[in-house]
Amino acid sequence: MNGAAADTLALTGGEPVLGTLAPVDWPRTTDADRAAVLSVLDSNVLVSDRTGGPTAVERLERAWADYLGVRRCVGVSNGTTAIELALLAHGVGPGDEVVVPALTFVATAMAVVHVGATPRYADVDPVTFTMSARSLAAQITGRTKAVVPVHLHGLSADMEAIGDIARRHGCVVIEDAAQAQGARYRDTLCGASGNTATFSLQMTKNLPTCGEGGLVVTDDDGVADRIVQLRQFGETIRADRPRRYVSHRLGFNAKLSNVQAAYTASQLERFEEYHAARRSNVAAFLARLEHLDGLLCPAEPEGYEHAWHILRFVVDLGRLLPGVDTATARNLLIRALRAEGLPATRYQMMPVPEQPALRSICPQEPGSWPVTQDVVDRSFTLQQRHLPPDAGPLLQNFADVLEKVWSHLKVLAELAEGADR
Ligand SMILES: Cc1ncc(COP(=O)(O)O)c(C=O)c1O
Repeated sequence: MNGAAADTLALTGGEPVLGTLAPVDWPRTTDADRAAVLSVLDSNVLVSDRTGGPTAVERLERAWADYLGVRRCVGVSNGTTAIELALLAHGVGPGDEVVVPALTFVATAMAVVHVGATPRYADVDPVTFTMSARSLAAQITGRTKAVVPVHLHGLSADMEAIGDIARRHGCVVIEDAAQAQGARYRDTLCGASGNTATFSLQMTKNLPTCGEGGLVVTDDDGVADRIVQLRQFGETIRADRPRRYVSHRLGFNAKLSNVQAAYTASQLERFEEYHAARRSNVAAFLARLEHLDGLLCPAEPEGYEHAWHILRFVVDLGRLLPGVDTATARNLLIRALRAEGLPATRYQMMPVPEQPALRSICPQEPGSWPVTQDVVDRSFTLQQRHLPPDAGPLLQNFADVLEKVWSHLKVLAELAEGADR
C-alpha cells in the first residue's frame, strides 16, 4: 500500500491524491491533423455532394471499409443518423418492432422511434453489460424486424448467440458500434462481419472527428446505395455529371462534411498505435485494482478484444457499506473518489426505457430490466481521460485514488450513517 492511502480522505479535509480533476485531453490533434483540415479548407471542396470527386469523405469511406475489410462504408452526419438511415435502408418503419438493449446511450432507442418503429428492450449481461441473448429471445414478437446489439463501452456484444436468434426469427442485425472502433469478437473487428454496422465519430470516440460525424458499413450494395441517397435528399449524385436535383426517395440532409472526414482520416493513420497503447495502459491499471474487495472491474472475456472506450466499475455496495441504502452509498463513494481527483461519473442514470422521453412509448412493464437497473444503481464509470496513448501514468494515479478510498471505507460508512440520520 502506498503512502497516500494512509492519509485522511480529501472528502473529510485530507490532501487529495490528484490536485484537481484531470482535464480531458482528447482528441489529440497533431500537426498532421491540422494540415489535413487546412488542405480541405484550401481546396474549397467543403461538402460531400460535390461532383468531380474523390472528396475527403470518399477517401475516409474507402479507408474505413479497407480497415474493416468490408465492401462499403457511407459517411453520415453522426452516429444517431447512421442508425436511423441503416434502419430505413433495411425497410424498418411504422408497425415494426426493433429490439435494443436497455443499457445503452439513449440514441440507440431514439433512432428506432424516429423511423416510426417501436423499441423493445432486452436486458443486459451483468458482466459484459451487452445485450443478453436470452432476454433478446424473450422480446421477439411477430412484429420484430430488426435487432440492434450495442457494443457498449467498446466490448462486442455476443454476436454469435444474437445472430442465431435473429436468423431464426428472420430479423436483420444492425450493430451499434458507436463506441467500439477497433474492438474484436472472435478475431473479427466489430463492424466487419458483413452485417450492417454503425459508428459514431463524435469527438469523444476512440476514432474521433473534430466535432460530429458517423459511418455506416455493410457488405450489402443495396443497403449502402439507399443510405447514399437517404443522406442526400433522396438524390443520386454522380461524379461524372452535373447534379440533377431529382429525389428518388424521401431523404434527409445527413451528409458528413469534408473537414470532418479529413480530420478522421488523419486520425486513422495512428489509430492502431493508440488502440494498442490504450490496451496496455488499461490492462496495467486494472491489474492494480484486482485486490480491491467488492470492486468488479470491467471484463474482457476470452475471445473478445475490448476497445476500452468507457471503463465501468460495479461496486458491491452492500458488502462495502453494509446497512446503507444503495443510492446513498454509491453517491458517497463517487463524491469521495472525485474529491481525490478521480473523475468518476455515472453513465446512464436509468435504464433507457425509463428515460422521460421514452417511458410513455415503451410497450413493456417498468422494471423489466433488473440487471440493467442493478448495474446503473451500483456502478460508476471513467471516461475519456484514459484514451490518449500516454495516459498510463494518470491511470496509475487513478489506481492510487481507488486504493486510498478503499482503505478508508470505515470513514465512509460513518459518514453514510451521519447522512442517513
Ligand atoms: C451506443 C451509442 N449509440 C449511438 C450514439 C450516437 O452517436 P452520435 O453522438 O454520433 O449521434 C452514441 C454516442 O455516444 C453511442 O454511444
